[in-house]
This record gives sequence, C-alpha cells and structure tokens, in this order.
Amino acid sequence: MPNLVVVGTQWGDEGKGKIVDLLTEQARMVVRFQGGNNAGHTLVVGGEKFIFHLIPSGILHPGKVCCIGNGVVLDPEVLLGEMERLVARGVAVGPENLRISERTQVIMPYHRRLDQARERARGDGKIGTTGRGIGPCYEDKIGRRGIRMADLLDEAGFRAKLAEILPEKNFLLEKFLGDQPFTLEEILEPYLEMGRRLRPLVTNVSVLLEEAVRRGENILFEGAQGTHLDIDHGTYPFVTSSNPVAGSACVGAGIGPQHLHRVLGIVKAYTTRVGGGPFPTECRDAIGDHLVECGVEFGSTTGRRRRCGWLDMVVVREAVRLNGLTGLAITKLDVLTTLDPVRLCVAYEVDGRRRETMPATLEELSRCTPIFEDLPGWREDIRGVRRFEDLPAATRSYLRRVEELAGVPLQIVSVGPARDETIMLQNPFA
Ligand code: IMP
Repeated sequence: MPNLVVVGTQWGDEGKGKIVDLLTEQARMVVRFQGGNNAGHTLVVGGEKFIFHLIPSGILHPGKVCCIGNGVVLDPEVLLGEMERLVARGVAVGPENLRISERTQVIMPYHRRLDQARERARGDGKIGTTGRGIGPCYEDKIGRRGIRMADLLDEAGFRAKLAEILPEKNFLLEKFLGDQPFTLEEILEPYLEMGRRLRPLVTNVSVLLEEAVRRGENILFEGAQGTHLDIDHGTYPFVTSSNPVAGSACVGAGIGPQHLHRVLGIVKAYTTRVGGGPFPTECRDAIGDHLVECGVEFGSTTGRRRRCGWLDMVVVREAVRLNGLTGLAITKLDVLTTLDPVRLCVAYEVDGRRRETMPATLEELSRCTPIFEDLPGWREDIRGVRRFEDLPAATRSYLRRVEELAGVPLQIVSVGPARDETIMLQNPFA
C-alpha cells in the first residue's frame, strides 16, 4: 500500500492540519518527522475547535497510531499538557494511539531561555522565532550534547549529562546574554518525573513503521512548517532549524526512501509568513487586510498577525521540485472570494531580468519584484460547493492555471475550515 508525505509548500500555515485529518481515514499510522511545538494545527471537527502543537492531528481518529519521530524536538511539558486537554475532552491517549521515538530530542528549559534571550539580543535583526527553544535544541542535537527521550528514562545517565551541559548553558545565559542561570536540581526531578509519565509511549518508532510496512498498512507522514522555512532550502537565515521538505521524512522517522510513494504539497490560495524575512508578494494594503481578516491569519502558536500577499508560484514551483510533489491541495480558496482581479505571481523581475527560481541570497530576493498575471475574480459563495464542476467558471480557471504553472495535478480543494468543506478531485494515496 502507498505511503504519503504531506508538506507545506510556502512558509508554513498552509492548512496542513485539516488535509492530514481528512487523509488519516486512509492511513493506519500518522507520523511527525521534524519541528516541534513551533507548529500549530487548528482543526474544526463537529463544530469543536482543536489546536495541536505536537500531537499529530490523527489522534482524533479511533484506531490510528500517531508517532512522534526522532527528527522532532519535543517539549515534554507541552506534550503532557496536550494529552491532558485531549483526555479532558474525552479523547483517550495512550500507547495504543500515541508513540514517541526514544531518539527524539528533548527541548530543555535552557533551550527556551536561550531562544528568547538571543532574539532579544538581536533587536531589529531578530528572526521572529516562536521562542519555544526549537533552534537551540537542534543546535545541541548537531553539537552532540542533546538530551533524548531515552535519557529521561535513565536517572543516573540524565544527571551526568545535565551536569556536563549546564555549566556551558549557564555561562552563555549569564555572562553573554545577561539572563538567569539554572540549577541542576530545578531541572532534574521535574524532567525525570515527565519521563516517568511518558515512559509507556516511548519506543523504537522506526521498527513500528517497518512492521506497518510489512503488514501493508498505509503510513501518512505529516510535515510541519513549510518548504521555504527549511534550514537548507528556505530563505536562510529566516527559517526554522529543521528540514520540512519531504526527504526529511526518511531521516526524521527512520524509514528508507523506497517507502515514500506519494508527496502531497499543501498550497494556500495566497501566501503568508510570520516572523521576519523577504516576501516578494506581500500586500501591505487593503488586500493584505482582507486576507488577514477573512483568512483569520493569526498564528495558532504565538497569536501573531501573519503577513499576507498574493499566491507566489515561484515559491510553489520550488516546492514542487524540492519535495518531488505528486499532487497539490489548495486550501482557503474561499478567502479569495470577492477579490477582483485575483493575482498570481508567475515569475520575478530582478535587475531588469526575468527570474523563475528563488535566489539563494536574501539580498537578491529582497530586490525581486513579482511579475503578476491577473485573473478574473468571483463573488459567489463557494463554501457550499462539493464538486469541481459546480465552482464558478472564474474559480475553475484560477485553479487550472495554478495547476498548469505548478505542473502537478490538483487533487484537493478546500473551501472552508470544516472537514466537509472540501472538493476531492483525486485521491492523493492512489
Ligand atoms: P522557530 O522555528 O521558532 O525557530 O522560528 C523560526 C522561523 O520559523 C520564524 O520566522 C517562525 O515564525 C517560523 N515558524 C516556525 N514554525 C512555524 C509554523 O508552524 N508556521 C509558520 N511559521 C513558523
């Protein structure tokens, strides 16, 4: 059976949560493979709103196993909080539906403090991180001084690692960033206690996936953030510290590339970004306000107002290439209703020349101006539409043009936040 990776094609917040939730019906396992609680999925199910930062949205489906892979950075306090909130709302959470890799890196209190203190120190040049300790945790992973889930289950080993790491962290916090240090004791016991509570969920996720593959069960890999926040391929340094591209699912979950069969790219019908960094199609006018208001573009993690602009097909085409997309899902199409014309950025102009790909430097990207194609808008309410043929002619033309520019089949169109406000053109698993 085919396995599917779902990724964001822009700067995150494309509405992946709803699409993953829909496709979970066809999967046995849903796996997160990168990022941490910098992500946030808002789901509307049965009129009830759920926000998740760490737990895959598949948790709302009975009979599915959600996994947090080794590529994730996990804040145990946040995870336990999400579990408690789910249980309070009647959703059972335990080893039968949630598993964590023993190799998953743990976000420690000093990671959060370092993240926030560094951002303060950067002043106007700040990245605009979510302040959740994501970057410092990945730094420690690569620096070979990270704490992994398995360490929280081994008291003596954890104490020894912490004793080795803390002096350096405290030196940085106190002497370089002018912040408060930590004592070993204030971290040790609370983290051991969280380790005890999470122990039943901790396992070798790679082995679980191998077993699922052998049984012929479908696996859904749920990417967080988006392609242009990728540490290698994004708008560096205004990026996150992980690889949200599809290939990262292999490393971050512990599975070989031959088991990733399909890649669905989620494209919001316009572009948004939170935090700093260049954004060629940004609209700092009434159109931007329309997109923020109608699209409710406020971060589900930090509550920040998102920067909004027209759909940028240079950005999407990069995502097609970098992820090897096999299909597209367009989300929040209803937000464009009443805008006329609807604009599509088809290329950039820089130094009098046309450019079809994203430049590597921020300096050049900030000089790129969009070349727009204007298409007729539509005024009809499309939220009730369930078949492509029933969409207004202008809406269909817009979608077909996006598909043509991307060079990848359009498989899903989302016309509203609820699960059923969806038009299925093709099954992304097929
Ligand atoms: P960090 O991931 O907290 O280190 O933040 C780095 C950059 O990625 C900042 O610009 C954040 O706003 C952005 N970012 C991180 N996670 C998300 C997300 O889930 N959606 C949108 N932007 C994100």
